Amino acid sequence: MSEHRVSPAQQRQPGARLALRGDLLDFTTAPARAEADSAAVRFRPDHWLLIEHGRIVGAQSAAPDASWQQVDHKGKLILPGFIDSHVHSPQLDVIGSWGAQLLDWLDTYTFPAEARMADPAQAQAGSVQFLDALLAHGTTSAMVFPTVHKTSVQALFEAAQTRGMRVITGKVLMDRHAPEALRDDVDGAERACEELIERWHGQGRLAYAVTPRFAPTSTDAQLAMAGRVLARHAGLYMQTHVAENRDEVRWVAELFPTARSYLDVYAMHGLLNARAVLGHGIWLDDADRAMLRDSGAQIAFCPSSNLFLGSGLFGWAAAEDAGVKMSLASDVGGGTSLSMQRTMADGYKVQALAGTKLSAWALLHAATRGSAHALGLGDEVGSLEAGLMADLCVWDWASSDVARRRQQVARDLHEKVFAWIMLGDERDLVESWVAGVCRHRRTRTPESRA
Ligand code: GUN
Ligand code: ZN
Repeated sequence: MSEHRVSPAQQRQPGARLALRGDLLDFTTAPARAEADSAAVRFRPDHWLLIEHGRIVGAQSAAPDASWQQVDHKGKLILPGFIDSHVHSPQLDVIGSWGAQLLDWLDTYTFPAEARMADPAQAQAGSVQFLDALLAHGTTSAMVFPTVHKTSVQALFEAAQTRGMRVITGKVLMDRHAPEALRDDVDGAERACEELIERWHGQGRLAYAVTPRFAPTSTDAQLAMAGRVLARHAGLYMQTHVAENRDEVRWVAELFPTARSYLDVYAMHGLLNARAVLGHGIWLDDADRAMLRDSGAQIAFCPSSNLFLGSGLFGWAAAEDAGVKMSLASDVGGGTSLSMQRTMADGYKVQALAGTKLSAWALLHAATRGSAHALGLGDEVGSLEAGLMADLCVWDWASSDVARRRQQVARDLHEKVFAWIMLGDERDLVESWVAGVCRHRRTRTPESRA
């Protein structure tokens, strides 16, 4: 249990008319990728954000009347809650594991940790810890890989429902090239998918994602089953990994000799559509990018993981220029932090190596409104627009002496926000709100920390 978790008694209940004061920052459209001056940015310093029944209803500079419960965060930054479009809940236990690239990292660290989630008590405790950790990093929505075990999916959906969070997840499918304890079979997996979809898909803010882990761990028969399940139910998502690591790409070419490319394996089985989210996509070619664009499937850019596992440098500009949808993701435990600030900072550095200087706006948009739109959730999350759910976070502009000094000398808003991204992390977080309920509150001030 997080020491910062807000007890039920402390939580402000939805239904109350709430007004939060702070510097409101969000986007009304998509910014260009490398421009510091952007009309897409909406900055409303020292405004009150008005919330009723868990939804944003407006914003104003004047203090609202006494019918509104006032929460005064004057001088702090208020952003839409972050969206992490690709993250693994059982991998908190292997975050920061030394010395491996993707395939041996899976065998050495990840599969053993995931096998432990067969125990329902561990799955339940792990799900609670994971979602509280997301909230403690300013992430209010996520698309999550649990494990092959049905209980791990159940536990994650239950914990998300308790917290009112927008969570998309589904049973990981693996019927080969994994330890016995993590392998399923086509029929049993299909039954589990159907039961979980029936129970959870579309319940409140929850949605089901058909989740073949990656091509090497599923047979053709299992991928075909995944395609059938996807076609059977409206509104399902699909999540998987693609073209992350060069050894992995070579292995996929051996396993699926008739496919034109790694991505084509998924296309052949009917798995690419506008609700498909594929992690990484580092080793793609022009034909792959055209296939992504035409299908509407998106790439979740995972810079922290790509650096940590030595996977390679994703080409943002090539993908964007080809019309591919993109979102930003931590990919913990391949990634080394749940912080979307750190993820944005790593994203900047990866693209800088390729000669693209992403603006603070492009980065922040990818972690909020951009992800929301890519997931088809733009009318629910990702901005502070009236009508959207009140999923938002309150941040310090700085929480160290160095960062405070940098904010003082910053000459304009872009410089301030860029420095906030590059120097910041979850220590800047003051509160996380989900559907108008405060679900995480910092209990220690930055000054009181050692
Ligand atoms: N490819 C297949 N499984 C995984 C995983 O758990 N993490 C990463 N980064 N890549 C994968
Ligand atoms: Zn992943």
